[in-house]
Amino acid sequence: MPSTDLSSILSSDVLLGCVFLVATALVSLKLLPLRFISEKNGTVLTAVTAYKSYEKVSKSSARKMRAAFHAELRTAGNAKWIANEIEYAEKLERLERAIEVNAVVASYIYRLAAAKDEAGTGCNDTSVGSDAYVGAEDHAKVREALKRFVRDWCEEERTESGVWRLEGEVDGRRVKRVLVPGAGLGRLAWEISQLGFDTTANERSHFMNLAFKYLLSAQTTRETDLIPDVVPRLSDAFHLDEGDFFDTFPGWSYVVTLFFIDTSLNVIKTVRHIYSLLEPGGVWINLGPLLWTSSGVALELSLDEVVRVAELVGFELLPVNEHGESVKMVECEYTSDSEAMMRWLYRAAFWIARKPVCSN
Ligand SMILES: C[S@@+](CC[C@H](N)C(=O)[O-])C[C@H]1O[C@@H](n2cnc3c(N)ncnc32)[C@H](O)[C@@H]1O
Repeated sequence: MPSTDLSSILSSDVLLGCVFLVATALVSLKLLPLRFISEKNGTVLTAVTAYKSYEKVSKSSARKMRAAFHAELRTAGNAKWIANEIEYAEKLERLERAIEVNAVVASYIYRLAAAKDEAGTGCNDTSVGSDAYVGAEDHAKVREALKRFVRDWCEEERTESGVWRLEGEVDGRRVKRVLVPGAGLGRLAWEISQLGFDTTANERSHFMNLAFKYLLSAQTTRETDLIPDVVPRLSDAFHLDEGDFFDTFPGWSYVVTLFFIDTSLNVIKTVRHIYSLLEPGGVWINLGPLLWTSSGVALELSLDEVVRVAELVGFELLPVNEHGESVKMVECEYTSDSEAMMRWLYRAAFWIARKPVCSN
């Protein structure tokens, strides 16, 4: 059954937990003035500019850490030999090297976007954006995108994947259209397309889309071998829809949401829209927590309430385990560092919900 195949991608650990050879440098950021941008394409410009200034801003933070370290040692009695003993200065050097490696990726993303004039400014490589366009939260989004490369597109430490078992079952699936809203860096959507489904990754964040296009570009992936573990390409069976999921049109056999629905301001509206997108008999597959983090979120529902909303909207929840339960809890991490002392473990909810065949 295709729905089971898709659901086993989600319920497996295919997308969770891997280590990237480009360590993302978690450094505090210099606060830059956030300029109010009213132009139509302003937010793309912000994203492009934030990638452009990644190296400068991150190196500035690293320099501050180094200066604070040396200043402290000058005043902290005999701490110097201890710091030397634990090779703290070398650790700061490793941080700077990691920033440099990340900066290669950030620079490719920026230059690709500038070359294609993604921001629609008519600006060329040298004139796109000044630092005045970006604020600390934009730099945080760049770091988040770099972490998503780790989550989605590196091989190391990826645990057993349900996807590979499904090879050989792909015949005749191209007619089935799958929408993956809030696709981030697109790995899940890519894996689904590789099963033979006609798949669209939908994502509204310019930060994510610029980074994803780095992966999709023959030019950038040829020029650097830093990432990824597999090379995704757009095709007649794999599409990128850069826009708001609420603007997508109906006609989907499947909607697959991964760590998505809790980014909604109004999850009732989200569930209703998913329902309206599906053709009769279509299936919604979901995996994710309910960590209501969007600013201005209107509704913070419990799991029971979300499930009830799905039923009230018209969905029929299908059994997801041998006990006939309609929700399965799956423990998973998200962009976590496998070597960190603090790790978030989500108990994410997994369900498969069908839109009745006799529905409108
Ligand atoms: C928590 S992330 C999950 C990304 C991806 N599914 C994953 O698991 O790595 C949620 C994503 O949904 C995107 N998103 C949120 N609301 C959206 C909307 N209305 N339309 C399109 N994308 C949206 C965000 O930009 C973000 O990339």
